Amino acid sequence: MTLRIRHFGTALAIALSLATTVQAQDEPKTPLGKKMAAMNTAMKAVGRQIDDPSKNASTLEQIAIIETNAKASLTLEPEKKEKVPAAEQAKFVSDYQAGIKKLLVVVDKMKAAVKAGNNAEASKLLDEMKGNQREGHKEFRL
Ligand code: HEM
Repeated sequence: MTLRIRHFGTALAIALSLATTVQAQDEPKTPLGKKMAAMNTAMKAVGRQIDDPSKNASTLEQIAIIETNAKASLTLEPEKKEKVPAAEQAKFVSDYQAGIKKLLVVVDKMKAAVKAGNNAEASKLLDEMKGNQREGHKEFRL
């Protein structure tokens, strides 16, 4: 009996430590990662309702979240910077900032399209935004 209780305790400890590990993997590791994760959640919400004009007020709120976090991302630097030779780091950071600014242009256009009730155009801009994400990650993410 004592043995069984001890085994149960061991199993519980293992289960808890696994659960903590899984959660830790999901959490953003860097301040920039946190901004990105917030953009990601908002972008998914936009994706679910971009074709529905009755949701445009809520879609605009989600776009505002993307905008705020993209602007905040401009003040942070990718962790990959440290892997780049010192002489190239300044260019790496300014290229990264240019990538975020490009995203912000698309965010602005999407906001205007939704305000104008042009959901078809906004949907195309969402694809463009995903393109910005792909390019940005290829170049600047570790
Ligand atoms: C709406 C577009 C975007 C979304 C939804 C997005 C989403 C994400 C997500 C979910 C992560 C992982 C966060 C984590 O859990 O640690 C991430 C990381 C990252 N993203 Fe984005 N991203 C977008 C656009 C961009 C753009 C345009 C760039 C660069 C120009 C960029 C650069 C990065 C970098 C550098 C990281 C790694 C974080 C670090 O180095 O600290 N992302 N992004």
